[in-house]
Amino acid sequence: MANSIKPITHFTRFESLELSKQLIDLALMYKQDPFAHQSKGKGKRIGCIFLNPSLRTRVSTQLAALNLGMDPIILNMDKEGWALEMADGAIMNRDKVEHIRDAAAVLGSYFDILAIRAFPSLTNKGEDLEDFVFSQFVKYCGIPVISLESAIRHPLQSLADQITIQENTLKQNPKVVLTWAPHIKAIPHAVANSFAEWTIGMGHDLTITHPIGYELDESFTKGAKIEYDQSKALKDADFVYVKNWSSFNEYGKILYSDSSWMLTEAHLKAAPNAKIMHCLPVRRNVELSDEMLDSTRSLVQEQAKNRVVAAQAVISHLLDS
Ligand code: CP
Repeated sequence: MANSIKPITHFTRFESLELSKQLIDLALMYKQDPFAHQSKGKGKRIGCIFLNPSLRTRVSTQLAALNLGMDPIILNMDKEGWALEMADGAIMNRDKVEHIRDAAAVLGSYFDILAIRAFPSLTNKGEDLEDFVFSQFVKYCGIPVISLESAIRHPLQSLADQITIQENTLKQNPKVVLTWAPHIKAIPHAVANSFAEWTIGMGHDLTITHPIGYELDESFTKGAKIEYDQSKALKDADFVYVKNWSSFNEYGKILYSDSSWMLTEAHLKAAPNAKIMHCLPVRRNVELSDEMLDSTRSLVQEQAKNRVVAAQAVISHLLDS
């Protein structure tokens, strides 16, 4: 099956409906038979480079590689690596020890695939929007790259989310609502951007609801309905994806923290069949109530479980490509 999928060089974003459907089919095949291709990655290595913390992405990517017979090696660059200089042409006479140009080239020579997590600064909008740190790795490593979450996208999470939606709907185009939730910290836009990008790309009916001032980057939300009244947005929803993000226009700021936006059963009176989604980690009773997370509406554990087969489908496809 994998050989018939359109080849890709990197996995960093939603590419096409056709490719996404093929990756979902491949992932669902691996869910039935995790070791169907257990020799495919034999003798090959994937380097997983983390510039930020992780639980699900780190472990699911390792498991996915192991299921394909591939050796994963993890480097927590933020804690264990040298401090990297990212700017081209920098005079390195301050705190940075190694240039990305050298480090990425070395990593590219050690591995067959490089997977990278690089969050945004949330202070330099221009650099974050061009995905500067992630792009420097891609530019200098010279091998296929998988995004483990960049400044603006989290495609492995989104693929797992779309697998979860497909498994839990009989409708061709379910009503999906992405709702902003309160949080105590300034949170990146990557999960929300990617979820919108993939949900629209899959042809689902997407409504995004948030307080005024929390508009996402329009390049990710074109094709979605924006509804500032949360209760109107939630009416008749089939899936409600709960996520916090900081302001995009007042970049990286927390403008609003009203707990009335935290989803409870009372919010879903007009959406009796709605399933609840969240990428995790979640701040219980800040972003989403215990009542919701522990109810039969919740798909959060299914989403996390699907991270393994999502990563496995992507690694498998890159090995074929
Ligand atoms: N959802 C997600 O990416 O989880 P981690 O940050 O724990 O990897």
